[in-house]
Amino acid sequence: MTAWWELWLGAALAMAWLVPRARARLLLSRAKHASIQGHARWSKRLARLLPFYEYDEGRFFACDDPPPDVAAQRRAAFEALGSRLRDRSPRTRAATEAAMPMISDLQFVSRYRVPFQFSRLVRQRLGAGVFLERADGVTVTDLDGNVSYDLAGSYGVNVFGYDFYRSCIDAAVDRARALGPVLGSYHALVADNARRLCAISGLDEVSFHMSGTEAVMQAVRLARYHTRRTHVVQFCGAYHGWWDGVQPGIGNPRDVPDTYTLKDMDETTLQVLETRRDIACVLVNPLQALHPNSAAPGDGTLVASDRHAAFDKAGYTAWLRRLRAVCTARGIALIFDEVFLGFRLARGGAQEYFGVRADMVTYGKTLGGGLPVGVVCGRRDLMRRFREDRPSDICFARGTFNAHPYVMAAMHEFLRRMDEPGPDGTPPLRDSYAGLEDTWRRRFAALNERLSAEGLPVRVAHLMSIATVLYTTPSRYNWLFQFYLRAHGISLSWVGTGRLIFSHAYSDDDYAEVASRFVDAARQMREGGWWWCAPATTNRALTRQVARELLRARLTGTDPGPHAVGSTAAGS
Ligand SMILES: Cc1ncc(COP(=O)(O)O)c(C=O)c1O
Repeated sequence: MTAWWELWLGAALAMAWLVPRARARLLLSRAKHASIQGHARWSKRLARLLPFYEYDEGRFFACDDPPPDVAAQRRAAFEALGSRLRDRSPRTRAATEAAMPMISDLQFVSRYRVPFQFSRLVRQRLGAGVFLERADGVTVTDLDGNVSYDLAGSYGVNVFGYDFYRSCIDAAVDRARALGPVLGSYHALVADNARRLCAISGLDEVSFHMSGTEAVMQAVRLARYHTRRTHVVQFCGAYHGWWDGVQPGIGNPRDVPDTYTLKDMDETTLQVLETRRDIACVLVNPLQALHPNSAAPGDGTLVASDRHAAFDKAGYTAWLRRLRAVCTARGIALIFDEVFLGFRLARGGAQEYFGVRADMVTYGKTLGGGLPVGVVCGRRDLMRRFREDRPSDICFARGTFNAHPYVMAAMHEFLRRMDEPGPDGTPPLRDSYAGLEDTWRRRFAALNERLSAEGLPVRVAHLMSIATVLYTTPSRYNWLFQFYLRAHGISLSWVGTGRLIFSHAYSDDDYAEVASRFVDAARQMREGGWWWCAPATTNRALTRQVARELLRARLTGTDPGPHAVGSTAAGS
């Protein structure tokens, strides 16, 4: 028979095993952001349940139940905007429509420019053209000869102005021509690039890749290899490329069991890092400082006016310092993913701007001098891909086009111009950072003052030259503002007003012109009745209204149900 003390001992041992695990699990749950984005698996389950429904023409203009005259005003404004956009660029639109059925990416972005309830009518009547013929200075020109100010910014690549990248590519073609497209062996410039990158990043070694996504993959793989730990920590809302391992939520059909998505700028996250033993690395995308814990703010998800953004440099710097200290104490690799923001903030990127050193840094986009690239810089002990004492225990990474001669030559031009004068005597780019922060602060403050003085319900928040538009009156129609901006000759990416990317080639005059167009566009949107708002309306009420519509669509079967493979989901 089992003695009582044996039972007690068994129970005590079980508790000793269970309690710390339960505590760690609880802490992990507390470190997840309360939003759906903080819960990757739940967000995917919910996404599968959300039904499709759309507004008919009547509801399209009156989904917030305005008086009939406001709905009529909106309808007339919509027609006028549609014909203005159509008349403006018939060739560009025709080319886009003809290409649409063949290009899946185009179908995707055209569908998700605006909330899905409005999408069909917007595609039919407002549809945005995607083809461009040329870029000059800070403008781009479409197939119809329309010149627009470029705020799409080539996904962040365009920091120094298109003419600069054009000159990098031209120089690269000349420099690389003799070797041409030979891969595997290196062009002599590769060594100089590595030397310059080590100096800029303050790190020991470099590896070259073909995209930012690949650079992040490699940094994470190396962190796992050297720490012999399994998990990656990334922060809620942060984008690190489209690789499975850093996209645990919506958008990735695979479950990702070894990534923790935790709260940014939060004490409990530090406690998790202090206590868990399975964390190999922490990924930081410094762009999140503009909107911690929120994803890149696209207009496709703009249901109300509750988009938040505000950059608190001191607060974010303090957070990075604490993160640095915990990672050092726990042997966790701190990786700054500077693919997007890198050279936009300072010559030494976010490390220099925030005054915090990382163990590894990923770069991409602009560093390629206009050509595709990804780079990892890291501490020597983290970058090594083999072990002296275990010959078969390696960390593999290759890539056919890594260190392509033309890309390396364009990157060389970029890095050289960072520290040396340009061919026409232009000063080194490093000089352009002096006073940059004040310039952009002044410019955005002036724009906000104008918007406020005119009583327009629009503001702009920014981190250096990256901005996002905020809306101050509850409205279901803010997503339409992107089309008013386009009609006023401002070119935006498919996320619309969520991301305005200015290049540093914008002069004060260029900026003033964009600001005037911005204010005019907002004025016209207001005149269209889109910002009419019933006195008691709140953002919460609008969000609840959409939740009720979704529920009704689900319960009443308006939802056509999941699409079978082979059905035509695009229908753009
Ligand atoms: C922070 C960050 N990391 C990684 C990536 C992925 O880079 P790429 O699109 O070159 O694969 C991006 C792209 O936007 C990014 O912003």
